[in-house]
Amino acid sequence: MTKIGRLSARSLALLLVLVFSPSFAAPSQAALSQAVTGEQIAPGVVRFWAGADAKAFALPSISLQRAFPATGPAPAGFAVEPMIELVDDITGEGTAGQRTVIEYAPGTSLYGTGEVPGQLLRNGRRNVTWNTDAYGYGNDAPSLYQSHPWVLAVRADGSSFGVLADTTYRVECDLRETGRIVFNAEGRPHAVIVIEGATPQDVVKGLATLTGTIAMPPKWAIGYHQCRYSYYPQSRGLEIAQEFRKRRIPADVLWHYIDYIDGFRTFTFEPEGFPDPAGHNATLHEMGFKAIWMINPGVKAEEGYWIYDEGEAGDHWVKRADGSPYRGEVWPGMCAFPDFTRAETREWWAGLYKDFMATGIDGVWNDMNEPAIFNVASKTMPEDNLHRADSELGGPGPHARFHNVYGKLMVEASREGIMAANPDKRPFVLSRANFIGGHRYAATWSGDNVASWDHLEWSVPMTLNLGLSGNPFNGPDIGGFAGNGDAEMFARWMGVGAMLPFARGHTGKGNIDKEPWSFGADVEASCRRAIERRYMLMPFFYTLFREASINGMPVARPLFFADPVDPALRSEDDAFLLGSDLIVAARLTPEADRAVVLPNGIWNAFDFNDGEDINLPRLFLRGGAIVPTGPVTQHVDEKPLDPLTLLVALDENGSAEGVLYEDAGEGYRYREGEYSLRTYRAERRGDRVVVSLAASEGDFATPDRELRVRVIGPDRREWLGAGRDGADVAVEMMR
Ligand code: NOJ
Repeated sequence: MTKIGRLSARSLALLLVLVFSPSFAAPSQAALSQAVTGEQIAPGVVRFWAGADAKAFALPSISLQRAFPATGPAPAGFAVEPMIELVDDITGEGTAGQRTVIEYAPGTSLYGTGEVPGQLLRNGRRNVTWNTDAYGYGNDAPSLYQSHPWVLAVRADGSSFGVLADTTYRVECDLRETGRIVFNAEGRPHAVIVIEGATPQDVVKGLATLTGTIAMPPKWAIGYHQCRYSYYPQSRGLEIAQEFRKRRIPADVLWHYIDYIDGFRTFTFEPEGFPDPAGHNATLHEMGFKAIWMINPGVKAEEGYWIYDEGEAGDHWVKRADGSPYRGEVWPGMCAFPDFTRAETREWWAGLYKDFMATGIDGVWNDMNEPAIFNVASKTMPEDNLHRADSELGGPGPHARFHNVYGKLMVEASREGIMAANPDKRPFVLSRANFIGGHRYAATWSGDNVASWDHLEWSVPMTLNLGLSGNPFNGPDIGGFAGNGDAEMFARWMGVGAMLPFARGHTGKGNIDKEPWSFGADVEASCRRAIERRYMLMPFFYTLFREASINGMPVARPLFFADPVDPALRSEDDAFLLGSDLIVAARLTPEADRAVVLPNGIWNAFDFNDGEDINLPRLFLRGGAIVPTGPVTQHVDEKPLDPLTLLVALDENGSAEGVLYEDAGEGYRYREGEYSLRTYRAERRGDRVVVSLAASEGDFATPDRELRVRVIGPDRREWLGAGRDGADVAVEMMR
């Protein structure tokens, strides 16, 4: 039976009214509301609708990675029963929509909601999914750059559920009332997907099943990145790169912001400041740097500019509601905007990357893609602008429907283009705007933050909540984008920022310099130590990114993952877990005197001979864990991982286990088996700890290397041993 075939005659009539009424005016939509129905789409995952007619009238999902046909009815006794109703006025201004209410028991903690300012715990908060250019946002900003209509709930007993309002329209996610999660969504009826799990980890993995995982990034993208608005001319960028090497501060990437662009005409190079982009990129490469360059969506509306002319000829632009051309002002002046809702336009855009990437560009930054428009109160294009979307996206519709996915569709196209240009390399795209599920195409950062202590504190919870919403590859502008801040704040920021999944220093135009050496010798030394930590932990970071690419587990995880039942961990904002084994307890206040809340169990403090540095986070290794580390390198490809040093903390039974993932760091041969996944195990036997290679998988040739073992005990006691990787290494534990 077709969808329409299942509709009642009454609803069919209403549907026709709705389809042909651009504003979905009252009272039609409410009349579609029926008893809530649920269908299972995966084990523990139920998709709910406001009745069968609502389902038939819903738009295709843009968040899910594929269609999830129903596998059966909702299981009897499914723990979450949403109340869903279609209403004619969800906004108080006559916009039709859908209200979903989910009740939860006392003791439940709420997280997720994507990119939101402020603390980790979301109980009592409200946000609105509407991608917004939110320069210098405050704690009460309802909308930032990305949209994730998703809440993760952790019950008092540690069991968990997650709710996705599967719509691209604006959604008010209202968590202010204790005991109720409320989604007030504008627009057409939509599915409400509930994932039930024994633990929050199960739910996060369940979300990844639905919305996909990140692809394995190129290893260099996990290194340290240096950016500013802007390094101009190209010689200035080279000076910065040289300075890193001269001062022995590790870094992998130099960024190029809009001043490289000729009159802000996207995909062009300004000839005076950047006369030789290919030569410039080649020089960076010789120094072991990668180059990321920015591409914005606004195309200068200027006849004779080839991209504009091509877009005109190909009819690629978003239009006004009446079908006339839409133009909005951004950096270049008045611009046309590609209608990324059309596959044909995405293909055209993707093709533009070929020559651009051929100059030796390694990665791309898509900015301003909410899309941000200057000099209009809404900061974006009119909501009734027309997108001529393909049927897979639900067919043509107003900008109100596609606003939140504009950035996501752009980065999908960018990624395609970059991959086509460099088929043997892994793409890297950073996007400011995105939508839930868009982590499959681009990493992100938390936008234009402020050089303030508040924003420094939010760096941790913002990273964590985005990770809990499906995007593990994110981090803040280290040092703050807006304003200057001071030396102490900068050093603390680098301390924590170097431990977050995406580590990039950046700042705005007109601000003081914020390179690691800009604040004098002491801060430079702190920054060097912070970044060296990242590079020593690179084998661990890379292993965690591989895990994220497989099951969606965030790289940086909230502390409560270590013990979802412990209420003391539920609102811990200063400390976080890398994987399951390492706690990073950041110092985020001028006093740096906050006590560390540790989960139950064995957590042994350690450092890298840098523990005296007040700017660096304290580190704790879980008893039972083995964490792989390597020597400091100046960039990820500088030398092979040799020696490999395993950090070992024994559990109460005197054993420990950990894995190390390695591959070429680039390309796709790992998919054909050219990777190495090694499991190491440690056992205490009397006064010795014996570390052995318990399992090894994959064809990647690891170097014949030294294996060092550092057994980390309580009270900072340590025992060392060494041997060859692959053979048993015994560590004598002196009493
Ligand atoms: C906005 C971006 O968020 C920021 O990172 C960039 O440097 C500025 N655009 C420049 O205006």
